[in-house]
Amino acid sequence: MGAFSTPTEWKAAVLVGETLLETVQRLTLVAEYRDEEAHSHCRRVRYYTEFLVRQLGIPEPDSGIMVFSSPMHDIGKVGTPDSILLKQEKLTPQEFEIMKTHTIIGEKILGGSNNPYLESAQRFALYHHERWDGSGYPFGLKGERIPIEGRIMYLIDKYDALRSRRPYKPPFRHEDAVRVITDGNSITSPDHFDPDVLEVFISCSEAFRDIFDAHENS
Ligand SMILES: [Fe+2]
Ligand SMILES: [Fe+2]
Repeated sequence: MGAFSTPTEWKAAVLVGETLLETVQRLTLVAEYRDEEAHSHCRRVRYYTEFLVRQLGIPEPDSGIMVFSSPMHDIGKVGTPDSILLKQEKLTPQEFEIMKTHTIIGEKILGGSNNPYLESAQRFALYHHERWDGSGYPFGLKGERIPIEGRIMYLIDKYDALRSRRPYKPPFRHEDAVRVITDGNSITSPDHFDPDVLEVFISCSEAFRDIFDAHENS
């Protein structure tokens, strides 16, 4: 029974734990609620993360915590104005600067806790737009200076965005999305991705396709 001397204390501790997990799940809903697409994206993110952490050999409890906290990566978008978040046309450079702050806002919402779920969620929120070659934001961190949560989510977000319909582009077929990630195009380069994460993606890309297809509109 560890630190708890009576069954009542133990039950209370379990209840606190369950409450925390439910609260975190509900926070995830906040991030999903602004637009329809974000809802199914967040659902898929959880499955992609589950697959990647297993393939990368990340041990428990970190892997389980990451699966649970990954859907909160964009929670900072609650602070992004609708005129920017839901804009159908390309963002102006000034609007893009405002969009970028969703990483910092997410960090403010989730940061400052010593709870491992919230700490992991905070790293997803703050670092998921950093790129391996240092060309990402908000800090331009390079390589392993980017926490693993950021390196995982950067690839997940890229694949999922390529497969999804956007106001400025049709959805890509799986094979075309893989080609963009592995060969690059005018905005994407293989140098943006952690080589280990990229290697897993290349060797197991059908798993990404299956997750997208199974949860496209769920
Ligand atoms: Fe984001
Ligand atoms: Fe995302």
